Amino acid sequence: MYFSHITKNPSTSFGTGKKILFFTILFVLLIIGVGFLVVKNNVMVPAKDILSERCNQDDTPYLDQTLPVAKRVDDLMGKMTEWEKIGQMALIEKNSIHDLNEITKYNLGALLSGGGAGPKVETPAAWLSMVNNFQNATQKTCLKIPLLYGIDATHGHANVLGATVFPHSIGLGATRDSDLVRRIAKATADEMVATGIYWSFSPNLDVPQDIRWGKTYETFGSDANNVATLGLAYLQGVQDSSSKYFNALATAKHFIGGGAMEYGTARNKNFKVEEGNITLSDKSLRQTHLLPFQKAVAGGARAVMVGTATWNGVNNTGNHYLLTDVLKKELGFSGFVVSDWYGVYQVSDTRYDSLVHSINAGVDMVMTPFEYKDFMANMQKALASGDISQGRLDDAVRRILTVKFNTGLFDRPEAVSGGLSIIGSAKHRVLAREAVRKSQVLLKNENSALPLSKLSGQIIIAGSAADNLGRQAGGWTTEWQGIDGNYGIVGTTVLEAIKNTVSKNTNVEYSLEGNFSKQEALADVGIAVVGEKPYAEGWGDNANPSLSAEDLAVIEKMKVKSKKLIVIIISGRPLDIKKYVHAWDGVVASWLPGSEASGITDTLFGDYSFVGQLPIDWPL
Ligand code: GLC
Repeated sequence: MYFSHITKNPSTSFGTGKKILFFTILFVLLIIGVGFLVVKNNVMVPAKDILSERCNQDDTPYLDQTLPVAKRVDDLMGKMTEWEKIGQMALIEKNSIHDLNEITKYNLGALLSGGGAGPKVETPAAWLSMVNNFQNATQKTCLKIPLLYGIDATHGHANVLGATVFPHSIGLGATRDSDLVRRIAKATADEMVATGIYWSFSPNLDVPQDIRWGKTYETFGSDANNVATLGLAYLQGVQDSSSKYFNALATAKHFIGGGAMEYGTARNKNFKVEEGNITLSDKSLRQTHLLPFQKAVAGGARAVMVGTATWNGVNNTGNHYLLTDVLKKELGFSGFVVSDWYGVYQVSDTRYDSLVHSINAGVDMVMTPFEYKDFMANMQKALASGDISQGRLDDAVRRILTVKFNTGLFDRPEAVSGGLSIIGSAKHRVLAREAVRKSQVLLKNENSALPLSKLSGQIIIAGSAADNLGRQAGGWTTEWQGIDGNYGIVGTTVLEAIKNTVSKNTNVEYSLEGNFSKQEALADVGIAVVGEKPYAEGWGDNANPSLSAEDLAVIEKMKVKSKKLIVIIISGRPLDIKKYVHAWDGVVASWLPGSEASGITDTLFGDYSFVGQLPIDWPL
């Protein structure tokens, strides 16, 4: 009406001068309007809404800590543009950020360090500085929504130099001690929080049925009840971090059934089990694999990671029945579902269709490690076309923001460097030693070969894992696949622990390959410390987990040079030793003990009894 009136008889309502003034003002407003939207990388990017009321930091009820979280979320959501909402759904790898302004421009809501992705120098101070730099970039955005920064602190904050490296979960499964697990989780969260990271992608609640799977050691074992009990303890320990500003965030993963993936069905041809298929009825899937998640959701889980397994051929990431009907409706999960590494792109033929399918199935946050611009463009396209509804967008963002408010993320000042001293603290190392001790499983003790005497005359020690912190620690330590040696980890090796334990008159001799000086008398004791090289995930899928030929050769050499032969196995899972174990006097499963090998000698020399119980079947 208004425009048609002007175009028809402009002269009747305005003089010429006024007309020129009107169109000049209109033109200027148009330029300003267009200037606010620029097209970059085929994405409409609000250049700056500095003039907009909504950026006015004097009107921010969402920052009012006295308001109920739901009210704070409502206020913030009411201010957000669609662009900002999409940014909150992105979880990207920190190495995809080459310019901190990208965080500001794309309003990114979450970053992660994939295994080993740290600052150039992995010191705690460097980690803190790196994370705070990312966090500060959010403070240049209109609404200043803080970042969630996530990491796989699965057995301590083990990416960080000097952190306490706790036993991997398979060893904790052997303790069956939920109080211990809770204390470890809390200590891990405190070390993580000290570096400004408050989101751990743990606990792993998978219930492994096949030890050929490389992720077996990340789980608490094959007993669903034990997994559920220890998993809940771990989750509540993480979320009970002692920071006075906020609670850290745990992640119940990988929903659901990863432990039942079948050998030989892996999507990735480098693997055998990881990202494989699960062939189970709904009833059987629930019977073994749902209980840990039921307990975790009831116990306060706020983030659930969906795994990249397929269930009867359907990818979990795109399974609406599992994510929405079972997890969100039946279990009443009110937190957010985060996809696993590129999981959202494995559901349908094209990335666009796959993303749409996954979001509509119930994924709220997308771990799209290196392709956030594609993700945002596809989300804008899907929302514009209605393939993804505004309601689904708002539900996902509401879930994410509710978790951010509940962790206290909005209310806390930057993580301060004063907290760094807790990393690798003596208190935490004592706790880790307790966990190692309680996780030791005595597999064989012929003629009471164990415990050993601290007054033995001569002890000879050999084997690939005898003096190797990297092998003690396993994967997800310093590097994604772990390290094979003594760099990058602060701790005590088995060899050092033995030397620290025996009397000063005991002669301790070490040879990696078991080549000892010519000697008349047999050594009182031969200790072979053997096992697996570090690995993670699909790279650890193995048709026949067993001792290497080198390790077996070392054991043979030790056998003929000692009166009593003890074999200590450092591994992420049971190894096939059936053909050899008859010749050994004592055998101990030490799992992946981490930095504090003194927990092994605590039981080996009798200061503590063996209390560990197999968390998964070990055929002997
Ligand atoms: C991995 C794992 C998952 C981990 C995530 C982030 O592929 O499946 O357990 O938390 O990526 O590192």
